[in-house]
Amino acid sequence: MFYQIYPRSFQDTDGDGVGDIKGIIDRLPYLQALRIDAIWLSPIFPSPMADFGYDIADYTGIDPLFGSMADFDALISAAHASGLKVILDLVPNHTSDQHPWFIEGRSSRDNPRRDWYIWRDGKADGPPNNWLSEFGGSAWEYDAATGQYYYHAFLAQQPDLNWRNPEVRQAIYDVMRFWLRKGVDGFRVDVIWHLIKDAEFRDNPPNPHFREGRPPHESILTRYSTDQPEVHEVIAQMRRVIDEFDDRVLIGEIYLPLHRLVAYYGNDLTGAQMPFNFALLSTLWSARSIEKIIADYEAALPPGAWPNWVLGNHDRPRVASRVGQDQARVAAMLLLTLRGTPTLYYGDEIGMHQVAIAPEQVRDPFEKNVPGIGVGRDGCRTPMQWDATAHAGFSASRPWLPLPDDFVRENVVNLAADARSILSLYQALIALRKELPQLRSGDYVPIAAEGDLLLYRREGGGDAVVIALNLGDQPVSIASDAAGLAGKILLSTFLDREGEKVEGALDLRGNEGVIIGATPIDHAG
Ligand code: NOJ
Repeated sequence: MFYQIYPRSFQDTDGDGVGDIKGIIDRLPYLQALRIDAIWLSPIFPSPMADFGYDIADYTGIDPLFGSMADFDALISAAHASGLKVILDLVPNHTSDQHPWFIEGRSSRDNPRRDWYIWRDGKADGPPNNWLSEFGGSAWEYDAATGQYYYHAFLAQQPDLNWRNPEVRQAIYDVMRFWLRKGVDGFRVDVIWHLIKDAEFRDNPPNPHFREGRPPHESILTRYSTDQPEVHEVIAQMRRVIDEFDDRVLIGEIYLPLHRLVAYYGNDLTGAQMPFNFALLSTLWSARSIEKIIADYEAALPPGAWPNWVLGNHDRPRVASRVGQDQARVAAMLLLTLRGTPTLYYGDEIGMHQVAIAPEQVRDPFEKNVPGIGVGRDGCRTPMQWDATAHAGFSASRPWLPLPDDFVRENVVNLAADARSILSLYQALIALRKELPQLRSGDYVPIAAEGDLLLYRREGGGDAVVIALNLGDQPVSIASDAAGLAGKILLSTFLDREGEKVEGALDLRGNEGVIIGATPIDHAG
C-alpha cells in the first residue's frame, strides 16, 4: 500500500507555511499506525518552483525549503526503522530552465549540451509544428539569442530533455543510482509516456472529440508527442538500473487508455513494475462503468503483471469531491479490496475535499495560464488537517494554501477518536487487507449484478471474501444464496455490522459497502 505525500502540504516544522522533510519524519508514527507500506514524495529537489518542484534545477540535491540532505538521510533511516519504504519522484522528461544543463545548452547552437534538449528551427510563420503545451499555448518557446525554438510539453520553464541522446540517458540513470545508493526504494517517474517524441516531429492530428470548455491542449491528439514505440526501450533501461539494486520499484505516471497503459509493463515484464492505473480518477462513478474498467484491466494485464489502483493524486480533484462525501467510503472499500497495489493520496483517508481557492490565492501555474475552466490543482493540494488548532496543526503560521473552515471538525485527531469515521474505516480496511491474503493477492472474480450494485469475490488459497458495494443512495436487497453471498459480514463502510450473518438476503443501505467472509466456491465441482 502506497501513500502519496505532497511535501509542501504535509507538515511544516519551521513555520514558513510550507511543509518540510522534518515534518514528514514527525508524522511517521501516524503513517505507521495507518499501516501503509511505502511513502511516495512529490519532488523535494532544488527548484525555482515554477511548477512546485516538477521543474528541477539539481537532481541530486534537496531544496532548502524542504530541508537539507542530512534531513533526507534522517528520513530514510527513520522510515526504514518504522518499516516504511520511501519512493522518490523522478522527473526525467524535463528540467527547470534554470538547470545548468539547459543554461549551457541555450548559450549557443554549438554548445555540447545543446542536443540534450529539443531545439528546432521554426517554420516561416512560426514554431516547428503544432504541438501544444499542456499548460497552455504552443509547446515551442522562441529563443531570440540563438534564433531557434525549444520544446516544452509543460511550462516554458520546463524544457524537455532529448531522450534520444545517450548522454542524457546516462546522466539520469546516474541520478537514479545516486538515490538508490542512499537507500531510496524506487521511483515514481513523472510523465514517463512523454519521454520519446516522434523523430520527424510531425504535426499532431486534431481531436475529433474535443469539447469547448476543456483545456485548449486537448484540441489536438498527442499521437506524435507521446507514447512512441521507442519509449519502451528507455523504460527497460531504467528498469535495469532499478534491478542493479535489491527490491526496488519503478512506477510510471501514465495517462493512457488501459489497452495502451499495459504496454508499459514492457516485453516479458521488463518495463515498469507499476504503470499507474488512473482509470478510477476519470471514470463515471457508476457500478457498471467501474465493473467494466476492472474487467477490461484484468483482461488486458499481461501474464504475471501485478495490478495497481489509484484514487487520487496532486493533479486531480479530491475523490471526496468527485464522488461525493457519502460515496467516498464506498470508494475506499473499492480501492482496498481490488487486486493489486492501492495508492492513497494524503488526506483522502480523512475525507479531505476539494478546497475552494479565491482568484487571488491561486498558486497553480496551470490555473494561472488557463484560468476559469476549473483546471486548477491547488484545491487538492491544501494542508493536511491534523487537528483543530490554528492552521490545523500543519504550521505555526499561515499556510501557503488556505484551509477549509471545516478542518476544525474534519481532522486526524477528531476522526481518530470517532470509531465510525472515514479514518477508522480506512484503518479497518487496511488492517483487514493485511489479515486476509485473498484480499491482497487472491483472484478477482466478478459476480453479475444490476443497477447501482457492484459485486465481486476475491479468492485464493481456499479462502474467499465477497465485496458488495452500493454505488447509489437508495437501499438495495440481494438474494444472497443466488449470488453466493452467504456468510458473515467482516466490515461495513458504516462500521456497525461486523459479525452480522447474511442468510437469504443481503440488505444494503444507500451508499453502503460490505465485505463478507464467504464460503469458497468449489471450482473443481
Ligand atoms: C505530472 C505531475 O504530476 C504534475 O504535477 C506536473 O505538473 C507535470 N507532470 C509536469 O511535470
